[in-house]
Amino acid sequence: MWLDVCSGTGEMAANLAKLASRKARVVSLDFCAPMLAGAAKKESPTRVLFVIGDARRLPFPADSFDVITISFATRNINLSRRILVEEIEEFRRVLKPGGVFVNLETSQPRSRLVRTLLHLYVKRIVRHAGRWLSGSRAGYAYLASTIPRFYSADELSAILEESGLETLSVERLSLGIAAIHLARKPGARPT
Ligand SMILES: C[S@@+](CC[C@H](N)C(=O)[O-])C[C@H]1O[C@@H](n2cnc3c(N)ncnc32)[C@H](O)[C@@H]1O
Repeated sequence: MWLDVCSGTGEMAANLAKLASRKARVVSLDFCAPMLAGAAKKESPTRVLFVIGDARRLPFPADSFDVITISFATRNINLSRRILVEEIEEFRRVLKPGGVFVNLETSQPRSRLVRTLLHLYVKRIVRHAGRWLSGSRAGYAYLASTIPRFYSADELSAILEESGLETLSVERLSLGIAAIHLARKPGARPT
């Protein structure tokens, strides 16, 4: 079984369903029912199971999933560093030993110049253009305030390790504006 947490409108879950073998079931979890309803319209219920639930208290027994993914939502659950560690511990709980955690999130470019330009861009352009195009002032103000405050790729690796996962790889994307962390739960894969 594969789980996409904070699945939103389900793009990642749909991609997982394409990647997963016929036997693997994909679960798409979010606490926002209208988001999941949008996702459910796009995907066959035989391939993806939609679950309304809180990422902080996953409604699954320990050692349930081979893969857990989260995309562009770790900033949302990052109420503080300590709380983020606890949340990733919850992901670790429901991962099988040897199971893989994939985190795709904005990050902090290593170059100070690129970092400064990114922060200016989200505060001055994305914030206002997003509000203008979508009509959502709060949504884009949130985005513009959380991107500059989020962790660097190295800090996020340290948080994963603190939560009991082993970092396997970190891929920095687009000059480090985003990063994919691949980590695993220690232990042997069940056969
Ligand atoms: C920015 S969206 C990302 C959606 C999707 N993963 C994507 O890449 O398009 C963040 C999502 O996280 C969900 N979310 C935030 N906190 C959550 C929590 N504690 N439990 C479940 N879902 C949560 C929100 O409802 C929202 O759908």
